[in-house]
Amino acid sequence: MNYKIALIRGDGIGPEVVEQAVLVMKAIGKKFGHTFTYEEILMGGCATDQVGKSYPDGTAERCKACDAVLLGAVGGPKWEGLSAQQRPEAALLAIRRDLGLYANLRPATLRPALTDACPLKKETAEKGIDLMMVRELTGGIYFGKRDRYDTQDRGVECTDLMAYSEKEIERIGRRAFELARLRRHKVASVDKANVLETSRLWRSVMHRLAEEYPDVAYSDVLVDNCAMQLVRDPGQFDVLVTENMFGDILSDEASMVTGSIGLLPSASIGDSAPGLYEPIHGSAPDIAGQDKANPIATILSVAMMFRYSFQLPDEATAIEAAVDGVLGEGWRTADMARMGESVVGTCQMGKLICQKL
Ligand code: IPM
Ligand code: MG
Repeated sequence: MNYKIALIRGDGIGPEVVEQAVLVMKAIGKKFGHTFTYEEILMGGCATDQVGKSYPDGTAERCKACDAVLLGAVGGPKWEGLSAQQRPEAALLAIRRDLGLYANLRPATLRPALTDACPLKKETAEKGIDLMMVRELTGGIYFGKRDRYDTQDRGVECTDLMAYSEKEIERIGRRAFELARLRRHKVASVDKANVLETSRLWRSVMHRLAEEYPDVAYSDVLVDNCAMQLVRDPGQFDVLVTENMFGDILSDEASMVTGSIGLLPSASIGDSAPGLYEPIHGSAPDIAGQDKANPIATILSVAMMFRYSFQLPDEATAIEAAVDGVLGEGWRTADMARMGESVVGTCQMGKLICQKL
């Protein structure tokens, strides 16, 4: 089978980590008999520099002509002074909206070889961490109406509106319950229903869904408590489902408890192709171009692409096993190395994973 993949290499370390992921796809293609064709798409700060727009016209259409999108990272200090609409982050929000990518899956897994890298107590780490954050990605405060105006007596005032409809909540909730069925059959829904009306609606829709999935153990967790539980005992969670901004914050927290943000992939999917796959780390401009970045998060994002966009679980598992194999042999990039471990660069790490495949 041939798959057409849109490559958004982006800014900072984006191009370097995408390059290694492409080599891994090549190795998978050889092993399992697939071919890949690539569509290079310019987006982010590099697009601003080259064509004057972080989200060039036709970006979404070009992505829609592909089976999946692989993104490195966008953004960096160079573009921070630009207006809200011009910033590289605006391109990221636009592509999520235009491709209808309402479900963002962010697994936080403590890989067996890296139990030592977990910053939590040894007993906690040894219980293991394997949770899936399901973040609503195209609604809530990120996409609500914003305003900025002068007042007579309070200076400038701003508002950001958080709105959620039953329909939006139900579709993300369903994703979470369906995923739980493929995992350990547990869903925790995170909200702030003791304060927010959107959360009260969120909770009532989730309760309705929970009745449709009696085989899945359901619980409500308040967002502040969830932040605490993630560092106290992350092993208790299987699938966590939450709204856009809570998910943004909690997914960074969850990533950190697994030791290195350089390891975690993500998938953003909607009701139709293409899905978008990207590492959850950013563009890391401080180490860009130095062959220091960890390519594993992007490589594991490719595994998610095989699993969720192409329904090829064996290919996905092969990539994950190759990553675990290389880590098990003690190979580390600088971000996850401890004293005495052998440090390799971006290219070498990619090569080792390809060899394992
Ligand atoms: C993320 C990022 C983005 C977000 C930013 C870069 C707009 O933090 O993907 O988590 O807030 O969604
Ligand atoms: Mg974030």
